[in-house]
Amino acid sequence: MNVIRTVKELRQAVADAKAKGLTVGLVPTMGALHAGHVSLIDRARRECEFVVVSDFVNPTQFNNKEDLVTYPRTEAADCEKMEAAGVDVAFIPTVEEIYPEPDTRVFDLGPVAEVMEGAMRPGHFNGVAQIVSKLFAIVEPDKAYFGEKDFQQIAVIRRMVELEGFNLEIVDCPIMRESDGLAMSSRNVRLDAEHRALAPEIHKVLEKSLAYAADHTVSETERFVVETINSTGDLETEYYQIVDALTMQPADPSAQPGKGMVGCVTVYCGGVRLIDNIKY
Ligand code: PAF
Repeated sequence: MNVIRTVKELRQAVADAKAKGLTVGLVPTMGALHAGHVSLIDRARRECEFVVVSDFVNPTQFNNKEDLVTYPRTEAADCEKMEAAGVDVAFIPTVEEIYPEPDTRVFDLGPVAEVMEGAMRPGHFNGVAQIVSKLFAIVEPDKAYFGEKDFQQIAVIRRMVELEGFNLEIVDCPIMRESDGLAMSSRNVRLDAEHRALAPEIHKVLEKSLAYAADHTVSETERFVVETINSTGDLETEYYQIVDALTMQPADPSAQPGKGMVGCVTVYCGGVRLIDNIKY
């Protein structure tokens, strides 16, 4: 595996691969790699002949400074995992390399970016669009891989791709879970033992909501999820919203949850902000 830290060298490595006729897959990450990331890399490895993984904690997508400072950084362990997964290039740039000047671009991401995470984390999705568009422009991958844990992020990235006219396939990959159901996340390492034991309740309640939804409306199901999660120890729901899986717009509150809808949740668990979702 080639560890590359500059844009210039990355462009060259990708150009060499393309000159050999290889298809290029990109897996954008912020490092702190876990089995969820490895599943994205494995999929890229199966589908593409040259796999680039970016490992970069992107400051422009953090609307909370403390979250940026405390975000786990585990470069050596990440490199071992990437090497073992057969990555061709690990792109690990500095902030100055990616942003030699402040990125002032504002993307017209529209309604997909205005709800849920967009409403709770002002500027977050614009920052995601900035870094992902830079990576797409540098690597020009045939395919790029994203995990469905960040369900809304995928919709926002698709919108950015449409706006910028990138020619690539966005591949969304299923959520990977711990054996107790907790969605894998780099933030899970911040949970202390007590909160780590509580956190799987989030997925359990989402699963229960599937049965509940069979004879309840969208708004009743949303209330059921929020109240059930909040009644568990130290869990506090920030939002639970059932939305159209493509547009991210809130489902009709009086409809019954069903095909084409996804419920997205954010929960504070001992100060750690966890997200998860479920398809109806
Ligand atoms: O999902 C993430 O880890 C990040 O938002 C991404 C897509 C790598 C951009 O920094």
